[in-house]
Amino acid sequence: MAGRLVVLVSGSGTNLQALLDASVDPSYGVRVVAVGADRDGIEGLSRAARANVPTFVEKLGDYSTRAEWDEVISTRIAAYEPDLVVSAGFMKILGKPTLDAFPVLNTHPALLPSFPGAHGVRDALAHGAKVTGCTVMLADEGVDTGPIVAQEAVPVLPDDDEATLHERIKAVERRLLVDVVGRMVREGWTVSGRTVRIGK
Ligand code: GAR
Repeated sequence: MAGRLVVLVSGSGTNLQALLDASVDPSYGVRVVAVGADRDGIEGLSRAARANVPTFVEKLGDYSTRAEWDEVISTRIAAYEPDLVVSAGFMKILGKPTLDAFPVLNTHPALLPSFPGAHGVRDALAHGAKVTGCTVMLADEGVDTGPIVAQEAVPVLPDDDEATLHERIKAVERRLLVDVVGRMVREGWTVSGRTVRIGK
């Protein structure tokens, strides 16, 4: 039976689309059972709707405390009984209720631990990095601090701006995320300290 994935998005959702496309092939072993967002009107939600995947939206601003939002997000995710949650361009840190209940995978457009946070591409460019890339990691309560599952390097070209560099990173990131999610769901994984190993 296919592993159940809940994907969280905040924007264009091209990583989500890559997962949706991959999951059409039964041998991939993964089904996107729901897509959650922290805002309305984003392309990520339209992609889910076009794929007939149920969606939910919970805005932080609609709750009086962060703790309340954390509980609500966790409850909404739990309703879909996921085997894995993927934060794919979801620009919020998930709280303890979600992190304690489900394994959560996150993707970031830089080679962590360099350039964590909301502007990984801009920060790498501003630093003058010649190589950057993308990281798929397990989420913890920090900002991009969880154990790393996979990384791939992308060169910074002399004429790059944030948009061109991010597009090249995202092409690599989508492939890496699809590969890692599929292998984790099909083969399982272990975490020992900070070392993640896919497979039994
Ligand atoms: C991706 O590059 C993802 O790594 C990044 O947002 C983009 C979302 O693209 N996330 C972060 O920067 C989180 N720190 P998408 O909406 O097209 O999948």
